[in-house]
Amino acid sequence: MSDTSVVTGLGWPVTGGDVANGDATGEGRSAVGWPLGRGTTEPTDGPSNLEREDSVSTGDGAAEPTANAHVDTASELTDFSMSGPLADMDTPIAREAAVALMAVGRRTSPMPRPDRTRVMVVANQKGGVGKTTTTVNLAAALAVSGLKVLVVDLDPQGNASTALGIDHHAEIPSIYDVIVEEGPMSDVVQKVDEFDGLWCVPATIDLAGAEIELVSLVARESRMRKGLQQHLAQDDVDYDYVLIDCPPSLGLLTVNALVGGDEVLIPIQCEYYALEGLSQLLNNIDMVRAHLNRELAISTIMLTMYDGRTRLAAQVAEEVRQHFGDTVLQTTIPRSVRISEAPSYGQTVMTYDAASSGALSYLEAAREIAERGVPSTEVKGESAHG
Ligand SMILES: Nc1ncnc2c1ncn2[C@@H]1O[C@H](COP(=O)(O)OP(=O)(O)OP(=O)(O)O)[C@@H](O)[C@H]1O
Ligand SMILES: [Mg+2]
Repeated sequence: MSDTSVVTGLGWPVTGGDVANGDATGEGRSAVGWPLGRGTTEPTDGPSNLEREDSVSTGDGAAEPTANAHVDTASELTDFSMSGPLADMDTPIAREAAVALMAVGRRTSPMPRPDRTRVMVVANQKGGVGKTTTTVNLAAALAVSGLKVLVVDLDPQGNASTALGIDHHAEIPSIYDVIVEEGPMSDVVQKVDEFDGLWCVPATIDLAGAEIELVSLVARESRMRKGLQQHLAQDDVDYDYVLIDCPPSLGLLTVNALVGGDEVLIPIQCEYYALEGLSQLLNNIDMVRAHLNRELAISTIMLTMYDGRTRLAAQVAEEVRQHFGDTVLQTTIPRSVRISEAPSYGQTVMTYDAASSGALSYLEAAREIAERGVPSTEVKGESAHG
């Protein structure tokens, strides 16, 4: 029933039969290469988002990066809260007021604390999809909501460290000392300024060599897990969340993160080619689950850089939701100038512009994650890979 006449142009191979993802049946694939999941009908069959996007679309599917700061606060709100209270605000002042109220209200209302530390691995081997942005802003959102959060930067680029204002030049003790030298993680954790409950393990350029150095080391896949578990077992350590920022590869550093975590959070950029390579990531996660970490679950898929003016963004979102069901957060992260500016000031968007749509959407996403709680190890909407 594979209908190759329907091409969504989202980057999936059009022809089916992707044996690498472990789909034993090989039947019922969508036009973009996914096996058709439960309830799947026509991929473009009247999604309400598409109708909404049609009415505001300025182009024909080409996702132009937004360069106007003025769209960043009130007018972007409906991007992440299309059906929420802000969708009804029809004057700029009303929307601005609502933003401010939401920002204040959300900040002061605490989020549920998990029973035990949730270790979430933010992974996607595709580069530039928003892994680091999601890691640091989600961490900040959880921290401003009263939770204790540790960010582990596992990318030699050190972008998460930069975004949190943490010095990570070559001499700084870092995650390298933990996974290669087997030093205690407590010695390399740094407090993040401006947040009561936020800490960071930085990454330095040393980590670039770790991928090769690890190959010849004992227990090369589980060194991160060992270091983290020892740290978490200390009496004076009680994080609610640990968020691990992965590099854009499926090498040993990412494997170390997957072995060390309980949950995977996959950010997916709402752009052309967004889904390409995702089968490979899911396949790797399956292998880690089968051999190294049975508890690992894909708990969360987050749609990032959603540009509400394009039909393409809505198509990607629709396709991802059809396949992954409620693993996908309701909250989508809008493409936002404030989000992209914040790291150059060594800040998260939560401190850089707390009332911006970017900050509010990450707060909303954090709340969704916190309120959903810990998932079961069964992966929802992803049976072909389980
Ligand atoms: N919601 C957003 N709106 C606008 N720009 C964004 C958004 N999210 C991320 N960006 C920008 O996109 C770029 C890539 O984001 P980011 O560094 O988080 O991706 P990544 O997946 O961590 O990249 P890498 O694979 O290199 O580690 C950055 O310049 C970032 O500022
Ligand atoms: Mg990154």
